[in-house]
Amino acid sequence: MHFPAQRKGENSLPLCSATAFLVPSMPSLKFAVLAGDYIGPEVMSEALRVLAHVAKQEQLTLSYTRADVGGAGIDNHGKALPDSTVKLCEQSDAILFGSVGGPKWERLPPKEQPERAALLPLRKHFTLFANIRPGLLYRELTDASPLKSERIPDGIDIVCIRELTGGLYFGQPKTTTTLPDGDVQAVDTMVYRRSEIERITATAITAARARKRRLCSVDKANVLETSVLWRKTVTEYVARHAPDITLSHMYVDNAAMQLARDPNQFDVFVTENMFGDILSDEMAVICGSLGMLSSASLGAAKNSHGLPFGLYEPAGGTAPDIAGKGVANPCAQILSAALMLRYSFGLEGVAVRIETAVKKAVTSGSRTGDIAFGRPAVGTTAMANAIIAQL
Ligand code: IPM
Ligand code: MN
Repeated sequence: MHFPAQRKGENSLPLCSATAFLVPSMPSLKFAVLAGDYIGPEVMSEALRVLAHVAKQEQLTLSYTRADVGGAGIDNHGKALPDSTVKLCEQSDAILFGSVGGPKWERLPPKEQPERAALLPLRKHFTLFANIRPGLLYRELTDASPLKSERIPDGIDIVCIRELTGGLYFGQPKTTTTLPDGDVQAVDTMVYRRSEIERITATAITAARARKRRLCSVDKANVLETSVLWRKTVTEYVARHAPDITLSHMYVDNAAMQLARDPNQFDVFVTENMFGDILSDEMAVICGSLGMLSSASLGAAKNSHGLPFGLYEPAGGTAPDIAGKGVANPCAQILSAALMLRYSFGLEGVAVRIETAVKKAVTSGSRTGDIAFGRPAVGTTAMANAIIAQL
């Protein structure tokens, strides 16, 4: 199976102890549903249908509440992240997130646009510093990758761990000013503390331990001060806390090239916020389609089950070009829901069942347009039906 079969006894790490026995026998899954814009609500309804199906089978109680976010927040409440939405999230054990933004709100000032005004503050508010992006391409789907099939005969199975609340995205100052000579200057600040690097390293170690115990840390230590600190901190932390892990380092420009050359040379890689943003999109395209990639964003906070509170979202965007047509691929949203069951509800077995059903549905021929490659494509609802049939 793919990323982390959770292990016992690693409770000091942020990504830890999601073992089913911690959860009472009929747990109530209390989460906030923030579907967002364009295809967001379309794929979200399919994920909720899949969850309702497994909940019935497994006798789990689903208890979720929807709230507006992104463009829907702007339209209905005058801001991308309404206070009522934050409050709902605070009262929930997890957030199932769709996607936000699109042409309708593009004319707003940059700081008010859905991506910057909803998703980033949400990550910061809940200190969701660890973003886990599985890069998974089934062997049966190698045609879907732009890489030649002989480079990936067994598909792709890697994991990107991206630091999510530091670096250029949040560093201060962050300003645009007109200089005395009339020129205009913009500044973003890349800043990292050692403690921030240590906690994401801990997450990466947990991920590596659940897999092949190999970890590659990606930085730009030949140029950036933050990367010098990053490399030193990761090296010392792994030496002290995880001598069982084989650690390597790579410059980010080389990593971009190596991902396209031989992605499976990586197993787990860990990197700072913007490098991770860029590399995870590259990883997504070599894995065939953004429509297949899920993600989990976790922090140190625990939910009412004593498990990590998290935000779960597909890695793709709102796809305005195909919205409303019923053709979007719901797999990434459904796989994100599976990650939520794994990390925030400790339901490893149920998560695996959903992941297996998605794999079986896709490999037995039900495919949306993005992964159909000349074969007849199915729509969003038919794709979800095929997954439910496998459950
Ligand atoms: C992602 C997205 C976001 C990011 C945007 C929408 C702010 O690209 O989750 O990768 O850059 O983090
Ligand atoms: Mn991105």
